[in-house]
Amino acid sequence: MTEEILSSRTDAATRLTPGAPPSRPTALVTGASRGLGLALARALAADGWQLIITARGAPGLEEAARQTGATALAGDVADPEHLARLAQAASELGGLDLLVNNAGGLGAVPLPSLAAYPLDTLTDLLRTNVVAPLALIQATIRGLRERRGAVINISSDAAVEAYEGWGGYGLTKAALDQLSHVLAVEEPDLAVWWVDPGEMRTRMLVDALGEQEAASASDPEAVAPFLVDLIKRRPASGRVTR
Ligand SMILES: NC(=O)c1ccc[n+]([C@@H]2O[C@H](COP(=O)([O-])OP(=O)(O)OC[C@H]3O[C@@H](n4cnc5c(N)ncnc54)[C@H](OP(=O)(O)O)[C@@H]3O)[C@@H](O)[C@H]2O)c1
Repeated sequence: MTEEILSSRTDAATRLTPGAPPSRPTALVTGASRGLGLALARALAADGWQLIITARGAPGLEEAARQTGATALAGDVADPEHLARLAQAASELGGLDLLVNNAGGLGAVPLPSLAAYPLDTLTDLLRTNVVAPLALIQATIRGLRERRGAVINISSDAAVEAYEGWGGYGLTKAALDQLSHVLAVEEPDLAVWWVDPGEMRTRMLVDALGEQEAASASDPEAVAPFLVDLIKRRPASGRVTR
C-alpha cells in the first residue's frame, strides 16, 4: 500500500491529493553542489521532482540550481539556523516526499589512525555526518509522515568494514546506519534506506586517495539512476548496497 502511494507520485512525478490539482513531489537533497548530490538532484529534476538543495559553497550551489530549477539555500547542515531555513523552505512547498541526507565530510586528511585521530575534528565530523542528518529528519518529519515519504541517508562501506585510516569517517557512517535502522522501526509509515553507493570519482575520494587512485571509481552520474530506481520501487526500509 505504502509502496503504491509513493510510486504513483514518483512514476508520474505528481503528488496526488484527492480533490486538489496534481503537483510535483518535493525532495530536499543536501550536498547537492557537486558529486553524488548534484548527480542525484539532476536525475530527480529530470524526473519531474521539485527540489530544495543545499551545500556550503554558494557558487557551486547556484550553478546546480540553474541546472535543476531547484530552490537553493547555501549554508552548513551542522548550523541549526541553516537547518531551520531548510525546514521552513520545505514547509512552504507543502512538506517533503523525500529527504536525502547526502552531505558529508571526510574528517582529518591524510586519514590518521584512530590512535592519532584529532578529537576536535572527530566531534565536528559527528556533527556533520550524524547529528545534522537527524536534525533535518526531526525538522521535516511532520511533512514526511503526512506524505508517507522516504528518507535516504548516504552511508559507506567504511561503516561496516575495518579499513585502516577510515576509523573516524567510518564510525560516523556506522552511527548514521544505526540511526537509520532505529528510525525505520519507529516510523513504519516512512521508507528509510541507508545506502552504500560504492566508490565514486568525487572530490571526497580524491581528497582521501589522490587523483590517480580515484580515477577508476564510478562516475556519480552513473550512480544517481540507482537511487532514482530505489525511490520508484520503494522496497521495505533497510540497508542498501549498490
Ligand atoms: N565518493 C565516494 O567514493 C563515496 C563512497 C561512499 C559514500 N560516499 C558518501 O557520499 C556522499 C556524497 O559525497 P561525494 O563523494 O559526492 O563528495 P563531494 O563531491 O565532496 O560532495 C560533498 C557535497 O556535500 C557538501 N557538503 C559537505 N559538507 C557540508 C556541510 N557541512 N554542509 C552542507 N553541505 C556540505 C559539499 O559542498 P560544500 O563543500 O560546498 O559544502 C558537496 O556538495 C557523502 O555522504 C559521502 O560520505 C562517498
